[in-house]
Amino acid sequence: MRYALAIETSCDETAIAVGSFASDEPLRVLSERISSQVALHQAYGGVVPELAAREHLAALPILCEQVMRESGVTIKDLACIGVTIGPGLKGCLLMGAGFAKGIAAPLDIPLLGINHLEGHVAAALLDNPDLNYPFLALIVSGGHTQLYYCEDLGCFTLLARTLDDAAGEAFDKAAYLLGLDYPGGARLAALAETGTAGRFTLPVALPGVFDMSFSGLKTAVSVLVHRLGIDHVRSDQQTRADVAYAIQEAIVRQLVQKTVAVSKDTGCRTVVVTGGVAANRALRARLEEQPGLKVLYPTPQHCTDNGAMILYATVERFKRGEGRDSLPDVRARWPLTEIAPP
Ligand code: KG4
Ligand code: ZN
Repeated sequence: MRYALAIETSCDETAIAVGSFASDEPLRVLSERISSQVALHQAYGGVVPELAAREHLAALPILCEQVMRESGVTIKDLACIGVTIGPGLKGCLLMGAGFAKGIAAPLDIPLLGINHLEGHVAAALLDNPDLNYPFLALIVSGGHTQLYYCEDLGCFTLLARTLDDAAGEAFDKAAYLLGLDYPGGARLAALAETGTAGRFTLPVALPGVFDMSFSGLKTAVSVLVHRLGIDHVRSDQQTRADVAYAIQEAIVRQLVQKTVAVSKDTGCRTVVVTGGVAANRALRARLEEQPGLKVLYPTPQHCTDNGAMILYATVERFKRGEGRDSLPDVRARWPLTEIAPP
């Protein structure tokens, strides 16, 4: 049996996981821990990169010690270490990369630099052992909204993407206008459950193409909220819920329309939905009712940023011979289409 450690610090969650594997056996996650910085950034209405980096630095040794203790694995048992090196906030990525180097160097074991988005796809493979390539992956988070054709590990073709805001960002910005705390996506979704269908309608951008756009929605919501009166929208629970319903409907409709169009165009009927917005119940329900589409997700705790997804990508790449004694530089921007297969 061999052991691997993985580290994720690309945004506002510090996450570490440790697992065991053998060449003919799938990865078993032995322990995983996440430290969320949501409370720290809430006062600012978004992630403050410098604060996030400092928080990663403080959390990494604590989480690492916890996963090692819980798994019973010692640092000396590790065969390799994987760490997210992009895309993400540069200062945050550097904290994870530096920590990984610090552990790997004295042990003289291979380091693997993992793409965060490949990690999100890996989460679906980890949690759905029967999932096989090829499949479509809809990555919908606070920072990313992209639809890929996934042929194999490291072989991704970008078929659709947002041209501006990410879907999660659209949820959060609209939620802010409704007076909800950051990140407001899940709060807005909960409100929408009591909203009335059809009282308000918001436009869906870019009909007829695969690419998506969400920044216009923010303006449309702002116009609607000011027309209704911002105080009225925030104080009248039913109006706020009805506006929330229209916002969610506009975001979900666009995601579903584009996913169905891409599925028809490629003939690929299996869709993996991953990233924080994959938790959205309306999105799931609408995708699942599309005839012929098979929709899969990671478990809820693996839809959002986590260490196990990076661990899975690390172990798959290590099994195929990847791993070196130095890490490539971290990359704030690193599209999945630019990653090399192992
Ligand atoms: O993947 P994630 O944890 O972090 C990154 O952005 O990488 O995604 C967080 C995003 C936030 O924008 C949050 O508001 C959104 O996912 N989100 C949701 C729901 N739960 C989380 N959006 C809509 N409905 C939800 N239930
Ligand atoms: Zn993410």
